[in-house]
Formats: sequence, structure tokens, C-alpha cells
Amino acid sequence: MTTKLGPVKDWENDFDVLDYSYLNNPFEIWDKLRDRCPIAHTDRRGSNWLPTTYDDVTKIAHDFMTFSSTQVLVIPFMETARQDMENINPEVLGYGAPPITADPPLQTWTRRLILPWFSHKKVAEYEPLTQSICDNLIDKIIGRQFVDGAVDYAQQIPVRVISHILGVPEEMTDTFTTWVRDFLEFADNSENRFNSIRDIVIYLMTVIDQRKKLISQGENLDDIISFLIKEQKTNSEINDAIVLGMSILLLIAGIDTTWSAIGSALWHLGSNREDLVMLKNQPEIMDTAIEELLRAYSPVTMARVVTKDTDYNGCPMKQGDKVLMNFPAANRDPLVFENPQVVNLRRKINRHIAFGSGIHRCGGANLARMELKVAIRTFIDRLPDFKVDESKPVMWAGGQVRGPRVLPLAFLD
Ligand code: HEM
Repeated sequence: MTTKLGPVKDWENDFDVLDYSYLNNPFEIWDKLRDRCPIAHTDRRGSNWLPTTYDDVTKIAHDFMTFSSTQVLVIPFMETARQDMENINPEVLGYGAPPITADPPLQTWTRRLILPWFSHKKVAEYEPLTQSICDNLIDKIIGRQFVDGAVDYAQQIPVRVISHILGVPEEMTDTFTTWVRDFLEFADNSENRFNSIRDIVIYLMTVIDQRKKLISQGENLDDIISFLIKEQKTNSEINDAIVLGMSILLLIAGIDTTWSAIGSALWHLGSNREDLVMLKNQPEIMDTAIEELLRAYSPVTMARVVTKDTDYNGCPMKQGDKVLMNFPAANRDPLVFENPQVVNLRRKINRHIAFGSGIHRCGGANLARMELKVAIRTFIDRLPDFKVDESKPVMWAGGQVRGPRVLPLAFLD
């Protein structure tokens, strides 16, 4: 991904999260900013602020009155696209994709509706499916000398799991992946981005209509979209636009976030043999290792919009400015994490905020953790001797979600 706005020369006053150097190695940039200018600013794509300390990111995340979630996109949606969307479904613009694009009270009750679908108990039910997805993928990879860990493995897993939860056909997985990439990863291409969200909206509107018909004919459907439709009978607040918005969120939220985390974990293990060997020989450290990999390679940055002119820590934030919730940089803050640049798979104290902080904390965290665990365990059990193939380039995506999109792996005999 490249930016049309030119390379960054001044990270403190003109940062760009799509700059090539930021995509490849944001860690050094955050360290320098944290020392010299802990909240950077840019006027690229509107007035945006970028906090880099744990303290600032968590404080801002908790102050939802001043920092609203009604604009969470790191790369803003073009105004013309908003107008085009109005022709397709004007209501969805009003509600967005709650709970992630909402403030209380809408955020509170829409979040409460979906949380039971991602409880520990419910997630355990999805584990055998996740295991068989991973095993099938490995069956196709095994025996090959070169594999793309991102495309052939990581990218294929979360989309299949969430398709099952939404009750949509597995054949749609490539289409969903393309839509989500166009919407989040290639967000600078506004035409593709609009087309992708238009197609998602049209597709889900059709699915919702079909489900409604089947439910009215007495079919017993057990998927999250049907659940939301059935809830409409007893809760008049759940209008059709909310069912649509929540379905959009559920489709988008769990796909490239989780595949990025799986890809980054494979990249780390394929680049650090001693960690790979340790995890292979000591499977009991898997849970701790997953938390450390989430801390070190946190994939998600979200945005907030400033609701009123505010002086925050000496930064003159204006109403309408955006703040980029830099959870990944906060997770490398030396005031909170000992030796934050060292990836220590046995790290004991690790209060990372890869899943966010405050009221919007990730609704799918249990699911993401389970998918990561099954994906990594299966890979290293069945293909134990792999490494990143340094003769070929690794390609990182970033902006809203950071992770490897091309990850050449080689296997030792
Ligand atoms: C490693 C994978 C994942 C990471 C790192 C991640 C990260 C995050 C973060 C940082 C937020 C907070 C957003 C904010 O503060 O604005 C969030 C919210 C959310 N995530 Fe995840 N996520 C992951 C996987 C998933 C999965 C698998 C799902 C399942 C569908 C999911 C569903 C949600 C939902 C529904 C919210 C909104 C919660 C709310 O606004 O109350 N996420 N996620």
C-alpha cells in the first residue's frame, strides 16, 4: 500500500499511518514520538491526533463524551461515497455499525445483545469447527516446499468461522475477504471502498430478508442474524437498520483483525527459531505466548471524533478532529511494560490493550483468542520446522489493521 500524499518528513506534525515506513516498522516511530511528542498531529486526510502512550490512549478511550465513536474509521469515508450510500440504504448511515460506531445508550444495549454469542461457553462450541478448518488447510499445504503463511493459512481461518456464526455459505469466503480488504486495507482507493461496502450492504439486506421469510414460515434458524431478527419481536428498539448495521460489523470485525494476528504470530515464530522451539516443546505456555504476541503485534487502531473543542495535555483539539486510538503503540510503552521491544513469550505481567480499553473493549476477544490458539497450535504441531523465507519479501498492511498480507515461509527437511 502506498500513500498519494508523499513520504513523511516530520512525524510529529505531519504523520501518515499509510506511509511505507510506518507500515513496515512503526515501532521505532512510536518510540521517538513517545519521547519527543507523545501526541503527534497531521492534517493529511483531515486533522488527526496520534497518542502513543498507554496513559493517553486509555484515558481517551474512557472519555466517550469528549471522544465519540461515531467516526471510527482511520481513513475517512469520502463525502461523495456517503451520498451514494444514501441511495442504497439511508437508515444504515444514521446508525452505522453498532455497537462499534455508537456511543451510549445505543452502544450499551447493542453490545449486550451480541456478547452471549462470544462467551467462553459459546466459543468452545466453535472450537471443533476451527480445528477442522485449520487441519484442512494444513492438509493442502503439507508437502509443499514454499507456502504463503498469510494467504494460504491465516487469511482462510477467521472468515470461515464467522461465516458459520452468521449462517452464510462457506463459498462466499473469498468474496468476503475481498470486500473486507477493499473496505479497510485499500481504504485510500475510495471507489473500491465504496463498492465494497455497497456490496456488503446489498448482500446482507438480501440475507436478512430471506431469514425473515424463513422465520415467519416457522423455520428454526440458529445463527446470530436470525437471533437479532427474532429479538425484534420483543424489543421495538431493534429496527431493521440496526439489524443490518450489527450484521455489517460482525462480518467485518472478526476477519482481518484475527487473520492479521495469526499472520503476525507466524511471522514472529518463523523469524525467531528459539521461540518456535520453546512453544513447540512447552505447549503449556501457549496462552501466555498468545497474549504476548497480541501485545507486541497488536493489529487494531481505531478512531474517535472530538465532540467539543478540548485542550488535551496541551494539544488544542477542535470539534470534528479525529484521534487515532493507537492501542498498538500503547502496548509498547516502557512505563507500563518492562522491555516492551522484547517479545517474551513467558511475560508474566501483561495488561495489554490489543482488544481496546473502556466500553468498546472487543466483543469477540474470546473468539479471537480461541482462533489464534487453535491456528498456531495446529501449525506448529503439523509443520514444526518452518521459517520466514528471507529470499522473498514480506508485505505488511496497516492503517486500521496491521498484519502481514504476504508471508513467504520455507520448510526445513
Ligand atoms: C485478534 C483479533 C481482534 C482484535 C485485535 C480486535 C480488536 C478490537 C478492538 C481494539 C476493539 C475496540 C474498538 C474501539 O475501541 O473502538 C474491538 C471491538 C470489537 N470487536 Fe474486536 N478484535 C478482534 C477480533 C474480533 C472478532 C473475532 C470479533 C467477532 C465478531 C470481534 C468483534 C468486535 C466487536 C463486536 C467490537 C465492538 C465492541 C463495542 O463497540 O462495544 N473482534 N475489537
